[in-house]
Amino acid sequence: MRHEDLTRQGHVVVTGVAGFIGSHLAEALVERGHEVVGIDCFTTAYPPAAKRANLERLLASSSFRLVEGDLVTLALDAWLEGASVVFHQAAQPGVRASWGRDFAIYVHHNILGTQCLLEALARTGVPRLVAASSSSVYGDAPVYPTTEESITRPVSPYGVTKLASEHLCLAYARPGVAEVSVATLRYFTVYGPRQRPDMAFRRFLDAAYAGRPITVYGDGEQTRDFTHVDDAVQANLLAMTAPIHAEAINVGGGRRVTLNQVLELVGQVTGRRLEIERAPAQAGDARHTGADGTRAEALLGYRPQVSLEDGLAGQAAWVASGLGLGATRGAR
Ligand SMILES: NC(=O)c1ccc[n+]([C@@H]2O[C@H](COP(=O)([O-])OP(=O)(O)OC[C@H]3O[C@@H](n4cnc5c(N)ncnc54)[C@H](O)[C@@H]3O)[C@@H](O)[C@H]2O)c1
Repeated sequence: MRHEDLTRQGHVVVTGVAGFIGSHLAEALVERGHEVVGIDCFTTAYPPAAKRANLERLLASSSFRLVEGDLVTLALDAWLEGASVVFHQAAQPGVRASWGRDFAIYVHHNILGTQCLLEALARTGVPRLVAASSSSVYGDAPVYPTTEESITRPVSPYGVTKLASEHLCLAYARPGVAEVSVATLRYFTVYGPRQRPDMAFRRFLDAAYAGRPITVYGDGEQTRDFTHVDDAVQANLLAMTAPIHAEAINVGGGRRVTLNQVLELVGQVTGRRLEIERAPAQAGDARHTGADGTRAEALLGYRPQVSLEDGLAGQAAWVASGLGLGATRGAR
């Protein structure tokens, strides 16, 4: 796509496009006929080569344009001018690494990056922002499933930056600031093909196929609401046009399971005997997460569709194919 073509009609912009969720979202947008500008600076949170691989399909499309740069320093206006929606997925992810010196990296990407994007949105008059937030804004919530009205008290520095990012987005939607309506989507642990290598399912599957022990932090009885990436993408697509002004919305998978249940499923879908090593619970991990989906259904018409069994089998097949392994039991 040439730069001149952008002015033809309302294109859409995806930040963090080379990442796990951003790349799936951009593919879905291209498939639906949108012209997509994707922005990414290929941070080293995990190997940039994996991010390049995520873009393979997109780069083959004439409806996709990759802009390489950091939201904090990039001249954004030229890319935002005339856009109908910006999907803001860019962030420094990961709860555990956010303690200590690296917090500065989180502040840079998650807070400064968001603020720079919002200033550009205000200048260029983009009418809709859909931004990735996180269940980590809740910390150890008092009630499960957790509604958006619940107190937000993150238990990790990462969660603090995601909450700050979310508040910034919602502040720019206030009258007199910018002509933008905002949905911040609080994703609950997203999984599926291309999942980041630091995330639990990915670590479990990689270890299972390699015959390495799986490290489980804590007793495994912690629960998570796991959301398939196709469902997270669907929530974004619905949020493009939903009649909202400024809302934080939970995006969950519809069910809460323990990590020990997940391990059993990993054994089933890989057909491998798992060797499990227990390690102490990690600072920053919430004990439980669970989304109340009432608001997402009411405002977006969102209902998760992918079952954990099918979703995990699909991710296992993706991991296996990356390792050159054939079809795995139960994978489809
Ligand atoms: N994966 C999950 O389970 C999960 C859960 C809750 C929230 N989220 C949020 O969803 C979003 C996507 O997460 P993901 O798992 O796909 O992560 P990811 O690391 O795979 O993708 C993020 C992408 O953003 C890019 N990026 C970071 N800072 C940037 C900047 N300043 N300028 C340009 N590009 C930048 C990175 O290079 C990366 O490609 C993030 O905002 C994350 O906080 C993810």
